[in-house]
Order: sequence, then structure tokens, then C-alpha cells
Amino acid sequence: MYTPIASKVEKMFSGIAKKYDLLNHILSLGIDYYWRHVLVKKATKCNPKKILDLATGSGDVAFKLAKSLKNDVSITAVDFCQPMLNLAIKKQEKISNMDNINFIQGDALNLDYGDNYYDVVTIAFGVRNFEDRNKGLREIERVLKPGGSLFILEFSQPATCFRPIYFIYLKYLLPMIAGIISKDKNAYKYLAGTIESFPTKAILSEQLLQAGFTQSNAIGLTFSTVSIHQAIKAI
Ligand SMILES: C[S@@+](CC[C@H](N)C(=O)[O-])C[C@H]1O[C@@H](n2cnc3c(N)ncnc32)[C@H](O)[C@@H]1O
Repeated sequence: MYTPIASKVEKMFSGIAKKYDLLNHILSLGIDYYWRHVLVKKATKCNPKKILDLATGSGDVAFKLAKSLKNDVSITAVDFCQPMLNLAIKKQEKISNMDNINFIQGDALNLDYGDNYYDVVTIAFGVRNFEDRNKGLREIERVLKPGGSLFILEFSQPATCFRPIYFIYLKYLLPMIAGIISKDKNAYKYLAGTIESFPTKAILSEQLLQAGFTQSNAIGLTFSTVSIHQAIKAI
């Protein structure tokens, strides 16, 4: 049973699910492929055997992980929005050697898994939608093994020189293009709002430490419009 806010977010993603991949690639000019590539490259360096991909959506991070790590890895891919998971499952049926991914409906804020289990947790463009970020980060820290890593790919606050043009794009152009394609301008207005109010790299790093992680570092990509954080659980 989800809270009213979580249900609203879930409903919004259900509404845009069918156009989600297409809009991602159009709105980012295809750069989202590169962002997920960097995330997966960093995560695979940990040589994980058990991975949890949270807010997996249509599954692109999970598929990239499976492709990079071959078959001896098990990937649990969780999302609370069944229509998004249905897209992922359809893709899984079409791509060979993806049987080591298990797509499961669930809430990242109340994970159904024991403590100290996963080597790596990944989450791309999901943390921003958490109703209670601290609760979500603490939950991730709980299921990670000691010494395990969380990798977060998320929008961030861009470099100063890029801010004016970026926010004009976010506020006006993005909802307009998304509205035409998805017929749901409001969903993308909401998403643009969450991007604008999301913390800087330094603040998110601080929040990761507050949630119990022992180390946190971040890199910015594409004028720092997105960032990748790696946070490590204490041994
Ligand atoms: C912007 S999409 C990102 C999907 C995918 N990771 C990607 O890279 O394209 C955000 C996803 O997070 C999911 N989500 C948001 N809050 C969640 C929560 N508390 N538990 C599980 N999934 C959640 C939404 O249903 C949605 O599919």
C-alpha cells in the first residue's frame, strides 16, 4: 500500500510509460545512452555478483549491466510501476542472454530483502522521485554488503555558465516537446520541477553520509547537468 504521494508518482509514470524511452532519447538528444554507459562502467569495476537496480523503469541500466557482466551475475531490478516493468519484460523477451535479470514490483523505500546482501546497488533517475530521500538511502545502505557500493545517476545543478539556457529548456521547451509526444505536459512539468529543486553534488554527498554511508564522491557529466555519486557502506 503506497502513500498518496507515492501513488501519484506511480500513476504519473504509468501514464507516460509507453512513450518513456522515446522521450528520454529525444529530450536528452541521445546523451542518456552515454550517461548510463558511464554509470554501468563504474559499477562493473566493483566486480559485483549480486546487483540491485532500483527504480529500474524500462530496464535499460539492468540490461547494460547484464551485457557487461555476463551470466554469472544476478540482477534484481525493482520498480513500483508495473506498466514500466512491463516494458522492461517485453524487452527482456527480445534480447538474448538476459535471463539473469529478475524484474520485480516493489517500493525502494520498503525493500523486501534482508540486510547485507547486495554487492552493488544502482539507481538511475529514481532518487529524485523518492518521497523520503533519507529513508530510501538508509534502506539501500541496509541491503548493501559491508564495503558494497551504491551508484546514483541523477540530474544535478549545472555549471553556472550553462544555467540560464538549461533552465529555459527545462521550463518551456521540455514540457512543450514532451506534451506533444506523450500528451501529458503536466508530468514533464512535474519532472522538470524535481530537477530544478534537486540538491547539488555536494549536498547529495552530505545526505549520503547522513544516511550511514562511510564515503561518498561524485562526478559531473555534460556541464554537470547530471552527476554520478558512488557511496560506500562501512566495512
Ligand atoms: C525517471 S524513471 C527512471 C527509469 C530508469 N532507471 C532509467 O534510467 O530510465 C524513474 C522510475 O522510478 C520509479 N520509482 C520512483 N519512486 C520509486 C519507489 N519509491 N520505488 C520503486 N520505484 C520508484 C518510477 O516508477 C519510474 O519508473
